[in-house]
Amino acid sequence: MHNAAFRVLGIDAVYLAFDVPPVRLGAAVSGARSLGIRQLAVSIPHKQAVMEHLDEVDPTARRIGAVNTVTLRGERLVGSNTDWLGAVLALERETKLSGARAVVLGAGGAARAAVFGLLERGARVVVLNRTPERARALASSLGAHGAGELSELRAGAYDVLVNTTSVGLKEERSPIRADALHPAALVMDAVYEPEHTRLLRDAQAQGARTLSGKWWLVYQAAEQLRLWTGREPPIETMAEAFDRAARA
Ligand code: ATR
Repeated sequence: MHNAAFRVLGIDAVYLAFDVPPVRLGAAVSGARSLGIRQLAVSIPHKQAVMEHLDEVDPTARRIGAVNTVTLRGERLVGSNTDWLGAVLALERETKLSGARAVVLGAGGAARAAVFGLLERGARVVVLNRTPERARALASSLGAHGAGELSELRAGAYDVLVNTTSVGLKEERSPIRADALHPAALVMDAVYEPEHTRLLRDAQAQGARTLSGKWWLVYQAAEQLRLWTGREPPIETMAEAFDRAARA
């Protein structure tokens, strides 16, 4: 996605993937600093641990508790988070969030980013998780409006549903029962492999609108590109790059 964007924007840069084991994270960050690498995208499982290796973490990333973007500013490595804005911009392709009743499934880092973003945009947010204590802790730390177990989801009780659990990742399962879905809902999955998860197909079968994890992934990457280059990200180009990679 990033390389496709660099090409159409005429930016002389290359994005490379490195598989870094947790014990090598500090060495990887200081190696990147020494090499003068300008930007890092940080993924699972390093989004929290990377913070202690940076010179600065911006207040939003600190509040979410995770960094997915590192930028070299002069001599300083600065951490930020584009996952929350990625989730919001993806949802805003389809709906207005202010005043919407939103339910976020899950209570990990992706859930924190989604809940933060939805609250920023003025939604009413409830967090549901397999382990309800984690949902309650997340809700109270970010100021969400309610929390509970996955089984508490009721059709009709929400406008926007965001799955951040790993259920459905490379498997044919949904985190919720199909009868908890309804036609007026907008349902987004964080899972993008497969792109059309069981949850999204169940939602479509109920007549709901859906957004695949591809859009969340594309928009968080697009916001990284904006931070790094100051340029308007070419969303469609990045989405097409995702499609090509998914077909390969
Ligand atoms: P991330 O930081 O990427 O969001 P995480 O912190 O590992 O990932 O969180 C994974 C989420 O998926 C959690 O909400 C987890 O629920 P628990 O808090 O109860 O562990 C949820 N999850 C994982 N496997 C699940 C399953 N089989 N059924 C329901 N929820 C599941």
